[in-house]
Amino acid sequence: MNDSERNPPSASSGQALDMEKLVSLCKRRGYIFPGSDLYGGLNGTWDYGPLGVELKRNIKDAWWRAVVRERDDVVGLDAAILMHPQVWAASGHVAGFTDPMVDCKACQGRFRADHIEEDRCPACGAVGQFTEARQFNLMFKTFVGPVENEAAQVYLRPETAQGIFVNFQNVLASSRKRIPFGIAQIGKAFRNEINPRNFTYRSREFEQMELEFFCKPGTDEEWHQHWLQERFNWYLKLGMRRERLRLRQHAVDELSHYAKDTYDIEYLFPWGWGELEGIANRTDFDLKQHQQHSGKGLEYFDDETKEHYIPYVIEPSGGVDRTALAFLADAYAEDAAPDAKGKEEPRVVLRLHPALAPVKVAVLPLSRNEKLRPQSREVFDLCRRAGIAAEYDDAQSIGRRYRRQDEIGTPLCVTVDFQTVESDQQVTIRDRDSMQQVRVPIAGLVDALRERLGVD
Ligand code: GAP
Repeated sequence: MNDSERNPPSASSGQALDMEKLVSLCKRRGYIFPGSDLYGGLNGTWDYGPLGVELKRNIKDAWWRAVVRERDDVVGLDAAILMHPQVWAASGHVAGFTDPMVDCKACQGRFRADHIEEDRCPACGAVGQFTEARQFNLMFKTFVGPVENEAAQVYLRPETAQGIFVNFQNVLASSRKRIPFGIAQIGKAFRNEINPRNFTYRSREFEQMELEFFCKPGTDEEWHQHWLQERFNWYLKLGMRRERLRLRQHAVDELSHYAKDTYDIEYLFPWGWGELEGIANRTDFDLKQHQQHSGKGLEYFDDETKEHYIPYVIEPSGGVDRTALAFLADAYAEDAAPDAKGKEEPRVVLRLHPALAPVKVAVLPLSRNEKLRPQSREVFDLCRRAGIAAEYDDAQSIGRRYRRQDEIGTPLCVTVDFQTVESDQQVTIRDRDSMQQVRVPIAGLVDALRERLGVD
C-alpha cells in the first residue's frame, strides 16, 4: 500500500472533522476513555483502552526505531520521574515555568490569560470581569518520605529532558560515544495546566518523546536543520497528510528561556494549527546551569582537537498523546463501501498507516458454522506466529465485522469460507482502503500479508 492509496481523495477528505465523532469513536471502540470515568472523570487525564495502548506503543516504537535503533549516534535512557529538586531550580522551571492566570469575578472560573479573547469569559460570557493576571507555576508538587515539609518537597517532572542532562556524564563515560551524539528518552511528564482542553491535546499527564543531541558549538545550526528534516519526514513516512503539516519558526518573544531558535512541527487540527513537536536549539544553557548548580564539571574534552567545551544541544521534543491524536484525526474518514450484497453503504474508516494500526489483520470466518472454525483458527495462529498483530472475530454478520474493522483502522481482513475448507485451501484478503479482494493460497498468506503491510 502506498500513501496515495492509503489516503485516497475520499468524499470526506476535504471536510472538517467533527471532533465529537472522533471522541465518540475513541470511547466506543476502546481507543481513549476519560480518566477515572467511573467517578465522573478527572479533568486533564485520559486512559488508553486496548486499541489506544497499541496505537501509542506503535508510535513510540516507530519513533525509537527512527531516532535510536537506526542510527549509530543516539543511545537511549529511562530516567526517574522524581528528581532532585535542585534540578528544577537549575533548569529555570522553579522560577519561570509559569502561565499567566486570571479569575472571572462573575463565575469564579480560572483561565489562562493568554487564551482570553476580547476580555470575555469563555465560561459565562461576562465581559471585563477578570482579575489582574498572576503567574501560576505548572509543576505538580509532592513529598518524598513520610514528612510533608519543604525539605521533602519534590516535583513530578514537567519534561523528560532534564533526566537526560543530569545523566550526560554518566552516558558519556559508559557508552563510549563521542560528540556529536544524542540521548533519547520516552516517558511521562506532568503539567498542572490551567485549562486542559481539546481532548488529549492539552492534558495534565502525558508522554513525551525527547532527544537531546549534543554537538560542538558552531555546528549547532547545521544539526538543527538536520533534525528539522528528519523529524518532519517521520510524520510523512507514517502517512500524515502533507497539507495538514507545517513547520513554524518561533518569533523572538515566543522563545523559551533556554532557546536560541525553535521550530514547531504543527498539525492542522479541527480547531486550527497546533504544535505536535518543538525542535529547539537549547545552546549550552542546561549543561552550564547544571554545572553551576551541582558544582560538577560538565565540560567535554575532544581528544582529537584537545579542546574543552560545553556542548550545544538540539532538542526534538514531541508528545505521544498529541501525535496519536493527530494520526487519529488524520486517518478519520467517512465514505461508502459495498455491503455483502454489493449495495453501497456509508462507513466510517480510520485510514491508519499499517505500522500504526493496532490490529494489522483480522481473521474472519464467513460464518460461525463449525466447519469453518478449525481452519480459521489455524489461519489466525499462522498470522500470530509470524508476528503479525491479528484479531479473530466470528460474531455477527460478515458485513458488520468488516465495518468494525474499518472503524478501528485494521488494514487487512482475511476471510475463510466454505471453498477454503472444502476445496481450494485459499482465503480472501480484503484491503481496507481500496476494498479490493484477492484470493491467495494459505501457504503463501504470510508473505502476501507482509507485502501488503509493508513489513518484513
Ligand atoms: N523539553 C522541551 C519541552 O518540553 P514543550 O514544547 O513544552 O517542550 C514538548 O513540550 C511536547 O510535549 C509538545 O510539542 C507536545 O507534543 C507535548 N506536550 C506539552 N505539553 C503538553 C500537554 N499539556 N498535553 C499534551 N502534550 C503536551
